[in-house]
Amino acid sequence: MGEDWQHGFYRRSLSERQARLVQGKQLNQTALEQLQANETTQHDLVVENYITDYRLPEGVALGLVVNGKAYTVPMATEEPSVIAAASNGAKRVAQSGGFTAEVKERYLVGQVVLTDVENPDRVTTDLLMHQDELLQVANDAHPSMKKRGGGAKQLRIRQVGDFISVDLLIDVQQAMGANTVNTMAEAVAQNLRQSGYHVLTAILSNLADQSLVTVTCHVDFKALVTPAFDGASVAERIAKLSELAQVDPYRAATHNKGIMNGIDAAVLASGNDWRAIESGAHAYAARSGQYRGLATWTLMGEQLIGGLTMPMPVGVVGGSIKLTPQSRVNYQISEIQTAQELAGVIASLGLAQNLAALRALATSGIQAGHMKLQYRSLAMSVGAIATEVAPLVSQLKQYKHVDATLAQKILREMRTQHGTN
Ligand code: MEV
Repeated sequence: MGEDWQHGFYRRSLSERQARLVQGKQLNQTALEQLQANETTQHDLVVENYITDYRLPEGVALGLVVNGKAYTVPMATEEPSVIAAASNGAKRVAQSGGFTAEVKERYLVGQVVLTDVENPDRVTTDLLMHQDELLQVANDAHPSMKKRGGGAKQLRIRQVGDFISVDLLIDVQQAMGANTVNTMAEAVAQNLRQSGYHVLTAILSNLADQSLVTVTCHVDFKALVTPAFDGASVAERIAKLSELAQVDPYRAATHNKGIMNGIDAAVLASGNDWRAIESGAHAYAARSGQYRGLATWTLMGEQLIGGLTMPMPVGVVGGSIKLTPQSRVNYQISEIQTAQELAGVIASLGLAQNLAALRALATSGIQAGHMKLQYRSLAMSVGAIATEVAPLVSQLKQYKHVDATLAQKILREMRTQHGTN
């Protein structure tokens, strides 16, 4: 049994829900004002039990050059160093000509999975014989996609364990397309059920290996120099770190986390489903049976060559894209027009992010650059107001071990000294 204040919560108006939550959780008036200050009335129609918008800081990565064009890329993230690192990596690559991005094909996969199959080979043959009809069923379920030149284009049959997966390869044009794919897959499932097959499930697959983007870049050694290291030795260490991420899943996970720091932030700001991109990335990283780093770096002459291939089934229209006012503004900022362009920019950002992380790891380590930014977040998390942040950070920098307790103590002392407490 839920508590009283929870009863019928979803049926209440937005303001009633906020008031009930404050009542039931004993939140104070300031908390209520915060819920109200961040609310967007239309979002009440988007999620169940809506109470407010959860806000994240948004910034822009600057100077990301992809296929000869310089982009300003909106990124939404709470991690302080991410946007600084993205711009840093982008700048180093831009000095050597920028990124080259390519999207060869862009199909989403809808799976219709059959179970209790007695004779898998015969069923496979039968299904392949009827592939045109099945594609027609899929396209009839979403005629507008076909009219726009997209739709279900190919059918592929895979025998997996005791199952048969009927994979529909669907061109969703400029959309993110999950709903289209699921509608088509369910229509095919219904058709197969009517033909006597046992359908276990019909759903999009997030292993979007038919929507791969490949980005490459060449970085001159001289763009990698630090005060303590020459460019060639930085490049060599980056190449070694890349090798490590190919052989050690423990390191590969962190290597890829760094890439996804940039990718998730840009995907989120673009209004796309970042969980879909995350799951596709990690599934693709494990495609050989071992989880590996998605980005690689090798040496060639006086240059470090970077490469990243990964699923990037992002769209620029439909679904949640351009749902929030901010995501609409973000397309004005980035000036990105097509799904292919967006995929190339986001993957380039991931590679830039990886370069910045590996360069830091190969030289001074990650903490040196991070700490100033982390201290700012720490200062704010213990309640420092804007004018208190800089003095608090400069005091924290004098300590070897810094944590929230120390930050709180210094803040209290600062306030006592200034008579603000
Ligand atoms: C931190 O958010 C990401 C890094 O750990 C990535 C990496 O180690 O490559 C710095």
